[in-house]
Amino acid sequence: MSLKKFAILSLGAALLSAPALAEDQTPIISGEDEFMWNCSECHGFGGRGDGPLAEVLIKTPSDLTQIAKNNVGVFPADKIFAMIAGRENVVGHQSFQMPKYWERFKQSEGQRGVDTAEVRIKAIVDYLATIQAP
Ligand code: HEC
Repeated sequence: MSLKKFAILSLGAALLSAPALAEDQTPIISGEDEFMWNCSECHGFGGRGDGPLAEVLIKTPSDLTQIAKNNVGVFPADKIFAMIAGRENVVGHQSFQMPKYWERFKQSEGQRGVDTAEVRIKAIVDYLATIQAP
């Protein structure tokens, strides 16, 4: 194989594997910042469910610092990921007032400086784990 052909083939392989690599990267935008931008209007800056939109919502946003406490002291990361992504329904969500972030984040995927939906939601879940009440 000519060197040129080889170079083109390996470039192609690198491009194809790019999205997979991106999943393992440290997020460009921290989970805390993602939370402030996407969640705090309802859940409050401290995650306590007291954001400015809380009083106009039919259902009070959950106090996200109590997740572990309400689950025998264990923070259920996978379940919380599914809830944020919109794959798992939350009790009382018949009047679901919380956006489904998987679809929402997918729409801006591929834009410069924007993480994949997977990385963004993971970063938010990791941030939520750090704000759990003792
Ligand atoms: C438009 C308002 C709104 C926004 C924005 C919002 N939420 Fe919610 N969220 C709610 C409401 C309302 C509930 C649930 C109330 C219920 O049914 O008990 C809720 C419930 C949850 C729950 C379930 C908690 C539990 O213990 O069951 C999690 C986790 C959560 N939100 C995380 C987030 C995260 C993370 C974001 C940002 C990516 C976010 N929410 C953005 C309104 C919102």
